[in-house]
Amino acid sequence: MEDLTAMCKRRGFIYPAFETYGGVAGFYDYGPLGSLMKKNIEELWRSFYLSHKNFAEIACPAIVPEAVLKASGHVDRFTDFVSTCPKCKSSYRANRLLKEEIDSSSLTFDGMRDIFKSGKIKCSKCGEKLTEISAFNLMFETKIGGDLKGFLRPETAQGIFINFPNMYRYFREKLPFGVVQIGRGYRNEISPRQGMIRLREFNMAEVEFFFDDPLCKEFEGIKDEKLNIFPKDGHEIELKAHEIYDKNIIRNQSQIYFMVLTRKFLIEAGVDPGRLRFRQHHTQEMAHYAKDCWDVEVYLDEWTEVAGIADRGTYDLDSHMRSSGKDFSVERKRKKIRIKEEKMEEVKKIFDKTDLIKKIEEMEFDENADIDEITIEKITLKKEFFDQYIVKKGKFVPSVIEPSYGIDRILYSILFHNFKQGVLALPPKIAPIKFGVFPLLRKKELKERARDVFEMLNKNGTKCYYDEGGSIGRRYARMDEIGTPFCITVDHQTLEDSTITIRFRDAREQIRVNIKDLAEKVRDLLG
Ligand code: GLY
Repeated sequence: MEDLTAMCKRRGFIYPAFETYGGVAGFYDYGPLGSLMKKNIEELWRSFYLSHKNFAEIACPAIVPEAVLKASGHVDRFTDFVSTCPKCKSSYRANRLLKEEIDSSSLTFDGMRDIFKSGKIKCSKCGEKLTEISAFNLMFETKIGGDLKGFLRPETAQGIFINFPNMYRYFREKLPFGVVQIGRGYRNEISPRQGMIRLREFNMAEVEFFFDDPLCKEFEGIKDEKLNIFPKDGHEIELKAHEIYDKNIIRNQSQIYFMVLTRKFLIEAGVDPGRLRFRQHHTQEMAHYAKDCWDVEVYLDEWTEVAGIADRGTYDLDSHMRSSGKDFSVERKRKKIRIKEEKMEEVKKIFDKTDLIKKIEEMEFDENADIDEITIEKITLKKEFFDQYIVKKGKFVPSVIEPSYGIDRILYSILFHNFKQGVLALPPKIAPIKFGVFPLLRKKELKERARDVFEMLNKNGTKCYYDEGGSIGRRYARMDEIGTPFCITVDHQTLEDSTITIRFRDAREQIRVNIKDLAEKVRDLLG
């Protein structure tokens, strides 16, 4: 980890923020390579969600008036427990201190307070007993204009919830739909000591998926995918998606679907699948808005949460509806069918019984169902025999599944899982620089041809790095260290037959490619 941290700073991935003024824990700057890598992770994430036709992205302000966060429960309940040393005044997050002693994830506030009262926990700076804990709200408070109280948002989610009526209209009043947002979140963490893992200003990518039906159309396609899960009252086990549903471990198919999607996204981004699991929250650990939550954990020095897939039920829409007085409820719509008048005689002959026709006309389907045919008592009726229509079944408040991702933690995990012996084996999609471009020697003709190649690729939007300094081995090593998957070298043969070499970081192999075929080859390599 020390090598990785030093590399990140030296090569321009991540710098401790405000270092010129002594630094402040919980803040980092992304350098040029870190910024590119973060953008690549976000783009990959977008591609996973926005490829669904019923998903859209929005962007909301990071400063939020108090009324919104009062309604959401954050003003009253978004707290951590802090213990402050009576002697040296150092502050500690109670959970963190307890975690070093016991598994504190299932402890209640009273349980934690009793342990502190017993005098077992000591200040790591001066050794004094820490006997008190108190609640500490994690939001940064501010003033909007002269006197309106506001906060920096602790999650992007609230911007999505209060836009629910707009988004329902946008999706033409049809559920389910997903709204995503990528942006900064802020939490005034109590003495963060875990580098990039516990930040006070961080990058989030969140999805709020609004639905009525706990069944999920996409579930069939992923039902045999395996997940490594750790239920709250069980042990770590690998199960297929449908087993998790059939065994009632998770009752909402969309929640399982998003877990499968998250696993795929993280693996494609470079997280090691062998160090990835889904851990269910204990009741005491759950955020105030959640009915069920599964942390997506990767193993670094310890199991570390990088995302969470929460079932928020109707908590947020109910709360905003109550506080704002606006109606966030929607019509429950179902599809029904009616035999066409002109086909009725024919249908009666097919069925031979009118009560089957009545049964068919009483059936209800999902409002989005595309009904091609109906089968009842082994008789199939094609869609030309019936009309399809929507009926309103009364108003209700939609439920929400929320996949929420910490981009900085994911970025750090990818670096951590892929940095070995000076080589950062990043997937090409995530690597900040895709190609190093070098002249083999510092000769004028080679340098000119190499610059031409560099410019051609850069113009195509492929992020490249031109380097003519030092031995070729040294230049390859510099690219390996920052995760560049491919290096192009212009050599004497280039001047004769217009071919260059492409060297593959992981296989350490090289191929020759004609410059005229390079654009296509690059597209292939970057997928
Ligand atoms: N929106 C999820 C979270 O704040 O953790």
